[in-house]
Amino acid sequence: MAKPSQRVRILFVCLGNICRSPTAEGVFRTLVESAGLSDRIEIDSAGTGHWHIGNPPDRRSQQHAVRRGYDLSGLRGRQVDVEDFARFDLLIAMDGSNQADLSRMAPDSAARARIRLLLEFADGVHETEVPDPYTGGAAGFEHVLDLVENACAGLLDEARRRLGGTG
Ligand code: 4NP
Repeated sequence: MAKPSQRVRILFVCLGNICRSPTAEGVFRTLVESAGLSDRIEIDSAGTGHWHIGNPPDRRSQQHAVRRGYDLSGLRGRQVDVEDFARFDLLIAMDGSNQADLSRMAPDSAARARIRLLLEFADGVHETEVPDPYTGGAAGFEHVLDLVENACAGLLDEARRRLGGTG
């Protein structure tokens, strides 16, 4: 069994860092706070693209999230950096394209092994990707929240495993 960690550091990654990954950051942060693990689990999000650096999450993402109790208003877009492979234990991609982009950026095979798809942690979901809601309607944003809430519960279990007896 792997040695327990003092801290687990998780980065959520999508394309723009204004819809899916900030949603995952907000949902997971709320779960982690409820579990009393905020000082042990570090959370951030980033985009593979550069278009929305410094921008708040998409207004629609914020509106749908706040109805479920998640406040995304303080988040700001940033781009993934190669340093993130050293800073984070898990880089969680929303879709296969994000995963492939991260894989190309990874400096070595150990870094590449830290890349996972969010829906690997979901329960009872047949999809493998969180679809980009940016060009669609309200249902797409709700679907993102459904998938993210499901998978974040599984991801919290994974984080607890990594914290071992210390979490
Ligand atoms: P996200 O959605 O990757 O979930 O943040 C997108 C937001 C903006 C763009 C693409 C995807 N864009 O091309 O501007």
